[in-house]
This record gives sequence, structure tokens and C-alpha cells, in this order.
Amino acid sequence: MVYKINFNKSIPDMISRLKQEHIEFGLSLNNITRYNKESNITKAIEAIHEMSESIIKHAVEEEARLMRVIMHNAKEESADSIKIMQEHNWVVNFLKHTIPDIENNFYQQSKQDMQYRQKVQNEINEFATKLSNHFSEEEQIVFPLTLKADMQI
Ligand SMILES: [Fe+2]
Ligand SMILES: [Fe+2]
Repeated sequence: MVYKINFNKSIPDMISRLKQEHIEFGLSLNNITRYNKESNITKAIEAIHEMSESIIKHAVEEEARLMRVIMHNAKEESADSIKIMQEHNWVVNFLKHTIPDIENNFYQQSKQDMQYRQKVQNEINEFATKLSNHFSEEEQIVFPLTLKADMQI
């Protein structure tokens, strides 16, 4: 899928929108965690699908726009932000590979045993926790550094 990145919007506007999106994703993650706790794996996966495309688009925008400003004007302080951006790899991997694998396995009756269900529930839980930590790290480290770097243009 090809995403059109908006390079015209100012960095402060873009960061406000990304923050707003974190709030919306956070609400979806709460629902996912709740379905998962209720052992409703099908519903949890459905909710993950619903947010999947917007999350990938959001990540691509962060890498294309925020990191560009940081690498231009705050390269010497960029190490933590680069590490945080690399977390996008597991997010995308989970959405594009782990979820389809889980869905394929669910078609096989043998894979619906309790042990497998528990493993899937743990994976979904880990996804929700890691993603919400990722949002906090961006808000504490990446966004402030981008704003600072943007003022130096
Ligand atoms: Fe991100
Ligand atoms: Fe983000």
C-alpha cells in the first residue's frame, strides 16, 4: 500500500494530530484489551483489523516527517528517537504476519485448544501494552525533540 505523506502541514500541527490519533488508538486498545480479557479473541482481532491501516499510516508519517526534521537539526540527540521509531517494525510485523497467522490457525480445530488460545491472548495483550508504551515514549521523547528541532530551521 502506498501512503501519501502530507509535507505541507506544519510540524506543530502535525504533532497535535498525531497526539489526537494516539488518544483514539488508546480507546481502541482499551476495547481490544477488554475483548481479550473476556476471551473474545474474534472480537479482539476484528478491532485490531479496524485500527490496522490507520496505525501503519500514522507510523509512516512519523518516520517520514518527524525523523526528517530530527536528523536534519538534532542528529546528535537522535539516538532514543531512532530506537523508538524502530519499534514500528514489530508493530507492522504483528499486524501483517502474527495476526494473519493466528487467523489461519483458528480455522484448524486442533489449534483452538486452551493452550493455544492462552498463547494468542498473551500475544494480543503484549501488543496492546507495547503499543501504548510506544505512544507514551513518542510523546515524552520524539515529539518534544521534533518541536525543538523544527524551531531551528
Ligand atoms: Fe509511532
Ligand atoms: Fe505515534
